[in-house]
Amino acid sequence: MRKKQIVHDKIKIAIIGYGGMARWHHMHMMLSGKISVIGAYDIDKNASDAARIRGLKVYAAAEELLADKEVEAVLIATPNDVHEYYTVLAANAKKHIICEKPAALGSESLARMIKAANDNGVFFIVHQNRRWDKDYRLMMRLAAEPGLGRVYRVQSNVSSSHGLPGSWRKVKAKGGGMLWDWGVHLIDQMLEYDRSKVVAVTCRADYVYGFDVDDGIEMFLDFESGLTAHIVIDTNNFLKERRWRVFGENGTGMVEGWHTCGKLIMVKERLDKKNKGITAGNGFTKTMANRSRSTIKRIRIPRSKAQAKTPSFYEGFYNTLRKGEPQLISNESVMRCMKVMEAGFQSIEQKAVIRTNI
Ligand SMILES: NC(=O)c1ccc[n+]([C@@H]2O[C@H](COP(=O)([O-])OP(=O)(O)OC[C@H]3O[C@@H](n4cnc5c(N)ncnc54)[C@H](O)[C@@H]3O)[C@@H](O)[C@H]2O)c1
Repeated sequence: MRKKQIVHDKIKIAIIGYGGMARWHHMHMMLSGKISVIGAYDIDKNASDAARIRGLKVYAAAEELLADKEVEAVLIATPNDVHEYYTVLAANAKKHIICEKPAALGSESLARMIKAANDNGVFFIVHQNRRWDKDYRLMMRLAAEPGLGRVYRVQSNVSSSHGLPGSWRKVKAKGGGMLWDWGVHLIDQMLEYDRSKVVAVTCRADYVYGFDVDDGIEMFLDFESGLTAHIVIDTNNFLKERRWRVFGENGTGMVEGWHTCGKLIMVKERLDKKNKGITAGNGFTKTMANRSRSTIKRIRIPRSKAQAKTPSFYEGFYNTLRKGEPQLISNESVMRCMKVMEAGFQSIEQKAVIRTNI
């Protein structure tokens, strides 16, 4: 019997900006079996050498890369301030585009990028990869637990003590700072979780390291549904924080870290008759006393219960280009996230709650 021949019509991609994230993409694109990385352009000699060593064709200029007929699509993985420049250039050269996050440094800039892609009939897809993080999917699974009741608050926390990495992430003009860098992921996740409108954004920032960009933020998003998302990003916190906390009417859930299982503590008996109160500090309290064990139940939710297997980002990109499937990450959703971030910056600047309809 003749073996069925599998024909792979791989997408040929070239990378603009061959730094840390580009190399990660390079490896994973090759592993996906859907994309073939053929070349790269970078303004830095060391980065260009790294691309050459990894067998890529190195271009002397972005225009040369874009003039290469073999190149069907580009990945833009430069610092954030030049994403728009390269997106418009690539769109005008009729190349499909994967752009790293944050796609732009404002909604007007993002609108120009989307327009350039639409005008030229090419796809523009932003790499909002954390929509498929297991810890996030597990949080959603926890929040959907029927016994939990209405979820009124979700806390999303990423904390470390490593400070701002690299060089450009410390510079405002380059699109540095944690609100752009991690805020874009954590906001995006919350907007995917609750599709109702964001009606208010409150944000404050830390500048511990003395650069002109934030190195940590705390943000509240109020949704029309009644949910409040509490987002914390810290680069100068030496404590280990929980990645997710989910507050429901009848219990509290948590996902400890990126790779842990989920835990739920739910009420069995609302009234704790055994609570006689405690001495706390210089006072007495019944409100803040520990609950009797018999009034609560604990449930462990394994990681395997994290919601739905989704196609990989690259598979999605392939299916959009080759099979005409809808983009895995819609540009409308990217724009929505961008507008929330803008409101966040406005809130930091004005030290005020920003009313929104996003
Ligand atoms: N989605 C994710 O999980 C994720 C993770 C990390 C970084 N990123 C994003 O990827 C992008 C790159 O981040 P990184 O961590 O790889 O940064 P990096 O500093 O490691 O790499 C950036 C590269 O771009 C090159 N470069 C700078 N200006 C350029 C220009 N004008 N033209 C061409 N090349 C230029 C630099 O020489 C460098 O090699 C950023 O947008 C960042 O937000 C995304």
